[in-house]
Amino acid sequence: MIKKIIIVLLLSVPALGLAAGNNLKLDSVDIDLSDKASLQRGARTFINYCLSCHSAGYMRYNRMGKDLGISDELVSGNLLFAADKIGDLMKAVMPAEDAKKAFGTVPPDLTLVTRSRGPEWFYTYMRSFYRDESSASGWNNVVFPDVAMPHVLYSWQGEQRAIFKEHEGRRVFDRFEVGSSGSMSEEVYTDTMRDLTNFMVYLGEPAKLVRYRIGTYVIIFLLIFLFVAYLLKKEFWKDVH
Ligand code: HEC
Repeated sequence: MIKKIIIVLLLSVPALGLAAGNNLKLDSVDIDLSDKASLQRGARTFINYCLSCHSAGYMRYNRMGKDLGISDELVSGNLLFAADKIGDLMKAVMPAEDAKKAFGTVPPDLTLVTRSRGPEWFYTYMRSFYRDESSASGWNNVVFPDVAMPHVLYSWQGEQRAIFKEHEGRRVFDRFEVGSSGSMSEEVYTDTMRDLTNFMVYLGEPAKLVRYRIGTYVIIFLLIFLFVAYLLKKEFWKDVH
């Protein structure tokens, strides 16, 4: 039995590597959930450019607004394209059947994507689309080979080509080459994707923000309590000495 378990574990090790796509190196990303401005910018990108196809079906608009410090009026006026009411869940605009017809697969719900795939995967994926004439959408992705999603932020990032090389008989990704530039410089696009990743991490675990806040109060309480305990100790031991 134990032997079997060990064999299964050993067999799953290469699978873990492949999950990242040909052992591709994922870029690290600086996540800071206390950076409200970054979370707000990420929310704007997500709602404007992703909700048309993807849902974030475990999040409500007003909850997001409250957590990120955006008033209900601002959310209603600026971010409510895909829903009628501020208390609605963040559902995709495109019906699942239409998406299936258009892309051959239903775009998955993205609420938990940074928890299932990891923030580094998401951040690298969003910067790894390249032009591929042989695919149905005209795009491909080195992190997610043969992905059905087109590069929806193409007008921002511009077009890049992927250069592959032979390595031990396999075709592996080498580097990107700039095809044509988009409306954003590489630096601005990278920052924009960092903000989007930051927002996606928040989306995956909104309670984290609340926990951080409670954590601060707990530490303050413990410090006050320490002081009181110290005074008590002094009082109790006064007569003993
Ligand atoms: C035009 C429709 C469309 C839009 C807009 C779109 N996507 Fe997608 N996306 C897809 C489809 C279709 C897939 C499924 C790809 C597959 O399985 O091959 C997908 C897959 C993904 C995945 C992989 C999920 C997984 O775990 O398999 C991520 C991450 C993703 N999209 C992020 C985004 C983000 C972020 C945006 C907004 C900037 C966005 N998408 C906008 C159609 C879209």
